[in-house]
Amino acid sequence: MEMSSWVERAGKVLMKNVGRLPVVFARGEGARLYDVDGKEYIDFLSGIAVQAVGHSHPAVVAALQKQAEKIIHVSNFFCLEEQVLLAEKLAALSGLERVFFANSGAEANEAAIKLARKYGRTRMGGKYEIITAYHSFHGRTMGALAATGQPKYQEAFRPLPEGFRYAHYNDLASWEAAITPQTCAVLLELVQGEGGVIPVDPAFFHGLVTLCRQHGLLLMIDEVQTGLGRTGKFFAWEHLGVKPDIMTLAKALGGGVPIGAMLAKEEVATAFEPGDHSTTVGGGGMAFAAALANLKIIEEEKLPERAARLGAELKAEFQSWQQELPVIKEVRGWGLLLALELAIPAQPVMRSCLEQGLIINAVAPTALRLVPPLNISEADLAKGLAILKQVLKEAQ
Ligand SMILES: Cc1ncc(COP(=O)(O)O)c(C=O)c1O
Repeated sequence: MEMSSWVERAGKVLMKNVGRLPVVFARGEGARLYDVDGKEYIDFLSGIAVQAVGHSHPAVVAALQKQAEKIIHVSNFFCLEEQVLLAEKLAALSGLERVFFANSGAEANEAAIKLARKYGRTRMGGKYEIITAYHSFHGRTMGALAATGQPKYQEAFRPLPEGFRYAHYNDLASWEAAITPQTCAVLLELVQGEGGVIPVDPAFFHGLVTLCRQHGLLLMIDEVQTGLGRTGKFFAWEHLGVKPDIMTLAKALGGGVPIGAMLAKEEVATAFEPGDHSTTVGGGGMAFAAALANLKIIEEEKLPERAARLGAELKAEFQSWQQELPVIKEVRGWGLLLALELAIPAQPVMRSCLEQGLIINAVAPTALRLVPPLNISEADLAKGLAILKQVLKEAQ
């Protein structure tokens, strides 16, 4: 069946809750995708920073096949071997001793919010407020949505859960002003992904850490988009040398098999008692197997280091384009989480790229986001860049 028919059928049956592009994919391999008509695309989006090791990596496919034949799910009354192995691996990589598995980034953040509140209620004399950043993104479920400091996502769904206050990213005075006698935690991204790829200012961050210490607040870092090598380190907080009290992960962890994780320091994690929080599947066998395979590839192929190197090269490349392409106003980001700020709207550029066989994301009205697989080949990267350059030349 032709793609236009699939698009028509999708339009009739899928809820219109997202602005879908008229492309239906049939297959993926590494950094390449193929639509149902057989057209090839270079993928600079990676399923929104999910396919860190590329599409259908043979080792991930093999791990999933093996797991499907072995065991898939037993409920949260019991454990799976793979669950223990994955928790041990994440704890060893991060130095955060306790792990809870969920099914998505939003769910991981819900768990973080609940842990912070339980800790605040029981260990901080009843405190419950959490400060988050304007332009942040923490997910679409009600708690995560309340944490997301973007009214455009919130307005239609009010009333939202109480107990969230917002402060301006990279503006320490604003966070200081948001602290009340009820504040128990801060939650922030170290590169605001959906907010337009805005990196944290290290001086602001260290100031915030000091504020947290002075006021006894929990430091919670959302690494759903930045985690697992994307920014050039395994976790973005490694760039800044401060381990959070609570961290959330998702996206690249399962590489498309739904899983999220909330990790915490031992002392913080003790606030949760049996019955406080749970979910029936919470990742499950397939997701644990996929995550173990993904982490092995990320470690063995040194993908964080590769992201750092390729990210630096890409930044230099884009800066060298600026002479010829003044339409590029700014290049920003860490590792392979990059954005080009344009002097023109980003949507038409994204659509022209799509027509030419490059998947790239218009993350803000005038910003393009680049999040290719961390193991994208130099040849595929060059091919994608050539398309982007040509489209930008024609657009300016
Ligand atoms: C930083 C951050 N946190 C949380 C989420 C929500 O994750 P999910 O879409 O898996 O619920 C996202 C998704 O884009 C994200 O970028």
